[in-house]
Order: sequence, then structure tokens, then C-alpha cells
Amino acid sequence: MNKWLVFSLGLFLLVLIACNQTENNHNGTSIDDKVESLLSKMSIEEKVGQMNQYNGFYDVTGPAPSEGDAKNKYEHIKSGLVGSMLNVRGVKNVREMQSLAVDSSRLGIPMIFGFDVIHGHKTLSPIPLAEAASWDLEAIEKSARIAAIEASAEGLNWTFAPMVDISRDARWGRVMEGAGEDTYLGSRIGVARVKGFQGDDLSAVNTIAACAKHFAAYGFAEGGRDYNTVDLGTATLYNVVFPPFKAAIEEADVKTFMNAFNIVNGIPATGNSFLMRDILKGEWGFEGYVISDWSSGEEMIDHGFARDTAHVAQLAAMAGSDMDMESYAYVKYLAQHVKDGKVPESIIDDAVRRILKVKFELGLFDDPYKYCDEAREKKLIYHEDHMDAAREMAKKSIVLLKNENNTLPLSIDQKKIAVIGTLAADKDSPLGNWRMAGDDNVAVSVLEGLKKYSSNITYAEGAKLVTGPTAFPIELEVNETDRSGFKEAIKLAKRSEVVIMVLGEHGLHSGEARSRVDIDLPGLQQELLEEVYKVNKNIVLVLNNGRPLAITWADEHLPAIVEAWQLGIQAGNAIAEVIFGDYNPSGKLPMTFPRHVGQVPMYYNYFNTGRPGPDGELFYPHYMDESHLPLYPFGYGLSYSEFEYSNLTLDASNKKEIKVSVEVKNVSERVGEEVVQLYIRDHVASIVRPVKELKGFKKIALAGGQSKIVEFVLTDNELGFYMPDGEYVVEPGQFDVMVGTSSAEVIKGEFEL
Ligand code: NOJ
Repeated sequence: MNKWLVFSLGLFLLVLIACNQTENNHNGTSIDDKVESLLSKMSIEEKVGQMNQYNGFYDVTGPAPSEGDAKNKYEHIKSGLVGSMLNVRGVKNVREMQSLAVDSSRLGIPMIFGFDVIHGHKTLSPIPLAEAASWDLEAIEKSARIAAIEASAEGLNWTFAPMVDISRDARWGRVMEGAGEDTYLGSRIGVARVKGFQGDDLSAVNTIAACAKHFAAYGFAEGGRDYNTVDLGTATLYNVVFPPFKAAIEEADVKTFMNAFNIVNGIPATGNSFLMRDILKGEWGFEGYVISDWSSGEEMIDHGFARDTAHVAQLAAMAGSDMDMESYAYVKYLAQHVKDGKVPESIIDDAVRRILKVKFELGLFDDPYKYCDEAREKKLIYHEDHMDAAREMAKKSIVLLKNENNTLPLSIDQKKIAVIGTLAADKDSPLGNWRMAGDDNVAVSVLEGLKKYSSNITYAEGAKLVTGPTAFPIELEVNETDRSGFKEAIKLAKRSEVVIMVLGEHGLHSGEARSRVDIDLPGLQQELLEEVYKVNKNIVLVLNNGRPLAITWADEHLPAIVEAWQLGIQAGNAIAEVIFGDYNPSGKLPMTFPRHVGQVPMYYNYFNTGRPGPDGELFYPHYMDESHLPLYPFGYGLSYSEFEYSNLTLDASNKKEIKVSVEVKNVSERVGEEVVQLYIRDHVASIVRPVKELKGFKKIALAGGQSKIVEFVLTDNELGFYMPDGEYVVEPGQFDVMVGTSSAEVIKGEFEL
């Protein structure tokens, strides 16, 4: 044999061994072997114990646990009946809990500690919907990475994030937790978040397992009312709902999934074997485990799907729900079901294998306390670098919605600036919802941020937004009557050159169980705005909100509007940088802003219908009393720079790689960033296709006067779609390609596939 061949073969073998070593956990045995060996020692009760998760005693993130007091839970942990805990955090607490499992249970299997690490952990970053507006995958990944660093420093090793539910309904409070309405953008962002949480090496001390949730279709709750019925066809399921989940597995190896509260095709997601067995673990080959949502197992009784808790345990386990969060169903009934032959032991073994595997991958068997290091906790929480990154992320998340006559940026020499609105001085609301680990009142308020730039600022509250307490989990009481602050605000506006009004939603107006029937400015804020406008029209509206708002009046009357969401701990600094022009905004809306709540659900990638228009005729799909168009379309957002698109060229000579290029020029003098968006339309297909679908985007920076050629390649992955039976097809025919600055402003070309 040729000596080079021998050398290469040798090298190949070495690489193989090395790769295998990484699969192995230190001492040479593969993780699978270790799992099998452990499994063979476990009693049926201990196996079921791994499938049981209990809530801790500090926070609740669902209806108060109906049973399982501390004493009982402690005993269960010691008996090996608990595989995981949620809502236990902090090195001291985690260590204490972990030692019950490790030191007292027969097999000493460590627990995995889950928590809702949704947008930052202690150093809170912008809410996920805001981060999505950055369209900056690198920044989003970094944000999740930092969240993982802090969460793992607090003893945690598993986050219930990212939420990759697509939603088209701004009334649904949980839109704040996702990446908006679009499947393509949502998939890319979901992948970035999983990568950020899980890092390159799950066994590293600063990475945590991620969880793609809520499988599936939770974002399609009827009427936008949280937990409500979902009723949608399989074409929507395959083409709109599933892709972000699939991408999280295929592109980021997400370790866990959470199922959902809702029904899909009449079957609760937690008992839905089509979702978990056929699709997730079958077609997609998912090797991680699935956790139920909080008591979603038990809720199958109310759905009218399960008779009682024993039935819940049987249905959920059979359907592929591997771990039970707060239903107490598995721990009570599953072992008996196996003994009675109602659930095969192989079902239990499969679930336990999946759970143990993730624990091994995290390195919990090497050292159950590896995430429990006080020094690390002290050093990393609120680390300066994390604060800087949160500020960067916050700036990138801001969307400039209107800027007539270059009202913005304001000059720092501007005299007499009025700041009005209770949210301007709020240090808590910008932290948004889903901030379980966050401290209260630690955000930089807008007022504080602005005051760092200018000493010409005077503040008036105008009107309170919320009257009662705002602590989680309490319903908000919105001020509908107290106008006592109006007078002072109006007086101030009258004598000011420019008025910055900070209005919108409180941080707890969105999130779980925070659906709204109106998506306007809550309370007295619209009235206050109109009163102030009567005396000073030069108003910059800074919006704080966790969902799209219908601010049609503001758009018609005000010269400048800044979408500032809930931007986290650095909110005020980021907003001030945009207002005074130190940062040039580049965010783009990840959700359509309707003109009126009655238009909802509203999204850019709708179907043409049989009567698309023309506008102005009676018999086409429109409203008599409002336009059928959005206020701000998906993908929309201005900049202090101005960009021009030209020279769209298509090369379809290779049908497997359609090449698209476009020239983008910054026609202003100011350096700026632009998100170049590519949409397609498949004209005629076996099932109707949307009028537009995002299939690519690139964020580019351009100096004043500079232009760049931006290139995209379209392959079968972008050009095909799923039939209602789940088959992926790519059909020949005519396609439009549209490239532009938003979904509504594009230049167009076409090609034949
Ligand atoms: C219920 C929510 O739906 C879910 O997203 C969350 O992870 C769990 N509660 C745990 O807090």
C-alpha cells in the first residue's frame, strides 16, 4: 500500500477516535452506554421520577400548584421521584436542592434545573419581539449567550426558551416573547437563540440546554385570547407553524421541546401523538425530550380529552410527552400504569433515555454542582460586558416609524425639551414581562437617558398609566379617570420647543395571560396626547410596548414616532442615543402594525383571495369603515440615512441555484445600516401561495454615498412548500422576486423555474 494512503487512513482513524471521544464523557464510555447502564439499574418508580418536574418554592409561573407542599416535594426528591425542578435559582438554592437528589436518593441522579430565561437573566435585554426587530442574528445569538452565562452562573442548566411560535395576532400577549409573524425570520432567529443558549459545547459550565416551545400552534389562539382554542389546517401547520421548530433541531440541535396548552386538530398538544411521535420524534428524528407546559397534562381533563389524572398520565406518556410539569400525573399514576399493562415500559424507557442523555451531555453526572459556584455567580451577574451588550442590543431593536422633515435626531443644543408621560420616568416597565430573575426598578428610564445628553429637559407625568400594584402575577389596574396631571403637562408643552411623549403599554400589559381586546394606547394616554397636541404639534412619540399598537391618530398627526418596545435594563440610554442621533436606527418591524384592532389577524404574507381588487369596488375584501391596508407593514423601518434600490438582476440558468443581486445605495450623507429583504411569489401552484414570502435578508452598513451589490441565492429550500399532507414539493412555473426595504416597498423581477 502506498505510504501516503496508509498515512491518510491512519489520520482518518485518529480523527474518528477523537470525534468519538467527544461523544464520550471523559472516561471513554459513550453517553448512550452510560444511559443504558444507568437505566438497567432503575426501578420503574425511579424511571418515572425522571419524568417528573416540580416547581420550586420561590416563584410560580402558572396557576398556584394545587398540591405538593415543600415537605412532600423534599421527600420525593430524596426518594428519586423528581428528575427536574423549575423556578429554583441561585447557587445556594440549587445546591441545596441538588444535594437532596444526589446525596439522598438511591441512585443519586442529579436533577436538571429549568427556568424561563427569556430575554437576559439578571441583565435584562430587550423583549424577544424587540430583539427580532434588529434582524441582527449575530446580536441576537450574543444576547442569548449572555443570558446563558448569567443563568448558568445562578445554578441553572436549562431554559424554557426560545418561544418560536409564529403569531399574527397582536391581541395575543405572548407576541412579546416570540420573533413575530414570519416563519422565515422566526426560524432564523430561533436558530440563533438556541445557538446562543447552548453554545458550542453543552458540557461547558456557561452553556444551558434550550427548549423550542410551544409545540405547536399556540400562537394561533382564537381571538388572540391566551390558552384559547386553535383551529387551523395542516397546510398552515406545515408551512407556517412547523418550520421554526424543525430548524431549531436541524440547524441548532435544540435539546428539548415544550408542548402546548392548546388543541391541534381537536387533540390537546400534550396528548397529541401526531405532533410528538409522528412529526417530532418520527419524521424529524428529534433525540431530545419533550416537557409538558405547566399543568397542560392535567388541563386535558378540562379540554374534555382525559377522564381524570390517571388518564392524563396514560395519554400524555403514550403521545410522547416525556416530562410532566406540575400536573402530578406521572408521579402518581405512571408506574402503576406500567404494572397494569396500560403503558408499555418501553415508552417509559424511551422518555428516560432522552432525559438522562441531556443530563449526561450537560455534564451533570461528572459534577452535579458544576453550575454551583458562588464566585462565578458573583463575578458574572450584571457583568459590565453584559450591560454593554444589552445597550447595543437595545439600540439595534429600535424602529423609526416616522420622521417627517427630519424632526429627529434632536440637536443637543435644542432648548426647552419637554418630556411627558409616566412611562418616561418608569424604571421597571422597560424590563418587560418574563423577567423572573430580574430585579425591580433597575432599568435606565427614558428620562434618565435623555438627561445625560441635555440639561434642557423638563418632565411632567401627565397621567398615571397603572394605579394598582404591578408585581407579577397580578392583573394591571389601568388609570381611566385621574386626569389631575394633565394641566401641568399641557402647561409644560406650551412653553417648550419640542415635546417627547413616552406612551404605550406597561411592561406587564403583554406576556402570558396578557391578551388585550384593544391594541391602542391604554388608559388616558390617547386623550393626553391629543390635549398636548392642541398646544404643541412638535411631538416626538416614543412608544413602549410589547405588541403592535394601532396608533393611527398619532401617525396622521405627529411628525416623529420611535418604536422603543420594552428594551430592558439599558432602555433609556439606547433611546437617548437614537433621539440625539448618536445611533442611527436600523430596526425593521417583525410584525405588521394594523390601523385598527378590527383588522387583526393581519400579516403581510396573506393569500390573494379570489377578489383581490381593484380597490374602490364594492365586491372585494375590504372594510367599509377603515382601510384594509396596515398602518406599518412587516419589515418596515426608517433610518436617518436614505437608501435606494436599483439594478435587480436574476440569473435562473441553474434552476437549483437562482442568483439574485441588487444594488443598494445610501443616498444620504450619513452612515447607516439597512436590512435588505428578499421576497418571492410563486404564481400558480397546487395549493395557493402567499402574495409575498420572505426568503432572505441581509443587514449591511453603508457610508454616505456608498453603494453595494447585495447577493442572494434561491434554492429548493426557499422555492418549495409543503402540501397539506406534509410532502415538500418544488413546482416549476413563474416566480416573482421582490427585493426592498420592507415588505411593501420593493423592486421586482421574475423568473421561470
Ligand atoms: C407556562 C408557559 O406557557 C411556559 O412558556 C413556561 O415556560 C412555563 N409556564 C414555565 O414557567
